Formats: sequence, C-alpha cells, structure tokens
Amino acid sequence: MTARRKQFLVTGGAGFIGSHLVDRLLAQNPARVVVIDNFDEFYDPQIKRANIAAHLNNQAYRLVEADIRDYAALKQIFSEQHFDAIIHLAAKAGVRPSVSDPRTYTEVNINGTMNLLDLAERNGIKKFIFGSSSSVYGPAAIPPFKEDAPLAPISPYAATKASGELLAHTYSHLYGMQIVCLRFFTVYGARQRPDLAIHKFARLISSRSPIQVYGDGGAERDFTYINDILQGVLAAIEYDSTPFEIINLGESQTITVNRMIELLEEALGQKAIIEYRSPQPGDMPRTHADISKARALLGYQPATPIEAGIKKFAEWFKRGAKS
Ligand SMILES: NC(=O)c1ccc[n+]([C@@H]2O[C@H](COP(=O)([O-])OP(=O)(O)OC[C@H]3O[C@@H](n4cnc5c(N)ncnc54)[C@H](O)[C@@H]3O)[C@@H](O)[C@H]2O)c1
Repeated sequence: MTARRKQFLVTGGAGFIGSHLVDRLLAQNPARVVVIDNFDEFYDPQIKRANIAAHLNNQAYRLVEADIRDYAALKQIFSEQHFDAIIHLAAKAGVRPSVSDPRTYTEVNINGTMNLLDLAERNGIKKFIFGSSSSVYGPAAIPPFKEDAPLAPISPYAATKASGELLAHTYSHLYGMQIVCLRFFTVYGARQRPDLAIHKFARLISSRSPIQVYGDGGAERDFTYINDILQGVLAAIEYDSTPFEIINLGESQTITVNRMIELLEEALGQKAIIEYRSPQPGDMPRTHADISKARALLGYQPATPIEAGIKKFAEWFKRGAKS
C-alpha cells in the first residue's frame, strides 16, 4: 500500500522563507504543496517569480495567485482541496514601512490571518502554523526574550503579528485546532528580502555606495540562518503534543549591527562607507531569542552561526543572487 500524499497549504510561498519551505516540502516525498501568494509589490515581484521558477515544473505543486484578504477566492481554494496543514507566512513584512501604512498591514496581517483561520476551521483543518515575529516583544523586553514575556509592540507590523497570535490562540481554544506560532528572529540567507539589512547592505557595499545605519550601530540582532528556521518550521509541522504553543526561532547569538557590517565586509572583500543616522521609529534596540523552548519541544538545534552564515549569504550574493 502506498502512503497517502500529505497536502500542505503554504501562504506567502513565493517569498523568501516560504519558497525555501516549499523546496523542502516538495523534496520530502510524498508531499503536495499548494501556494497562495499575490506577488505583492512590497519588493520586486520578479524576485518572487524567480524564487518559484523550479517549483512550477513539479507535478506536486500548485500555485494560486490570490490575495489572503479575498475571502471568496480563499473559500474556492478550500472547497477544491483538503489540507493536512496550513503554514501561514503571507504577510506585509517590514517594520518601518508599516509605520506609514498601518491600515494595509492591518488588512493583510490581521484580516488575512482571520480569513485563513476561519476557513481552516470550517473545513476541518486541524494543523496551523503561524509565522510570527520577534518584534512582538518590544524594546523593554529583557534579553534573552522568553515566550512568556509581556508583549509591547512598537510598530503596526509588530502589533499585527501579536494580533495574529491572539486570533490563533482563540481558534485553538474554541475549535481544538493544533496551532504553533513561530516567532522568527531576523532571518537571512539566499533569497533574503532585498529590504532587509544584510541584503541591502551587501548591494550597497558592492556598488561602493554609502550604507545608512540608524542609530550608532550598537543595536543588537539575533540573525537566524534560513536553514535553521526551516528546521524549526518542519519540526513544528510534525509537533502535536499540546494544542497551542508560541515558540521562538532564533540563533540565540546576538551581535551588533556594526559587527554584522564587519563580517559582511570580510565576506564581500569590500569596505563599507557608513553614514550614521538617527534611530528610526519602530526599530527594536535589541533582539535575542531564548530558544530553550524550541529545543525542548521541537528538538531545534540551530547549526549556522552568523560568521558562517554571512559567508554563505555572500557566496549566493556574488553568484548574482540567483536560486
Ligand atoms: N524574514 C524575516 O526576518 C522575518 C522575521 C520575522 C517574521 N517574518 C515573517 O515571516 C513571513 C515570511 O517573511 P519573508 O521574509 O519570507 O517575507 P516575504 O515578503 O519574502 O514573503 C511574504 C510573501 O507573502 C506574500 N503576500 C504579501 N501580501 C499578501 C497577500 N495579501 N495575499 C497573498 N500573499 C501575500 C508576498 O507576495 C510574499 O511572497 C512573514 O509573515 C513575515 O512577517 C519574517
């Protein structure tokens, strides 16, 4: 007897993290993957087309170009297919742009998440993974951040992610859905979003243009390599011991932005021209994950420290940022 193919719905599956996850799910035979993505213009949609180019040739893959705000379109997809699990990564990402466009962030990140939870419940889908963010903790959180720390978001983006977690908790409680909210800590690696610091700085350093650092460069970040995030997401899909969990996925090796720039300079073989500017509203002064819960519940073992990860990122970048 052959095993029934599991079918996963990945929202935002054309994006940075989502497209890597789809690579892994498709490699994990016998999985089928449906992706919902609207190729949002937050950054060049052609980059997302390139991310999924190889997926389109796979018989086990289906792309649905739809907006998660469009309930009717989502309802149609759920009426056609059953999903063993939903991995919800579609979102308006980015802290700073959310300050100037809070309503769109709310519509996509809160109403869109609501639409997916509602349709999951109506269609008897019990397993839901929500891509949350370290930004929910806020600037006063004591490092390393533990999942039970009080939340104090300071950007609309962070507030929408905290809201998504609350909706997820409600659905788990009311309908017995098995939900894991994963708080990602600054993810980087091949295909990283072009707006994120490592990728943006690499582009500017390579073209000998100045890079703007907001603050004095002493802000600390827990940079997490994409393969480690994937390890955590795949383990969360399998996890079923408790109905609802919120789990940090970080590297737990925080470094300053200045140190990250030094590592990037070494990896690219090029010095940066740095312009220091005032800190931006909404930016967190530090992020640092306590990953003991991820280790205990998911067997999570991040394996790529930033020194090694930046080299891998730079190799990808120097190849022309392809694949
Ligand atoms: N990259 C990080 O460092 C990081 C950190 C914390 C949390 N996250 C979260 O992880 C998830 C994935 O992030 P990413 O870095 O891969 O971002 P990304 O922007 O590359 O991917 C998000 C995808 O969602 C799609 N999308 C946006 N709005 C949509 C809509 N209305 N309908 C359908 N699809 C839509 C986009 O087109 C994109 O392909 C997001 O939820 C993000 O908030 C990312």
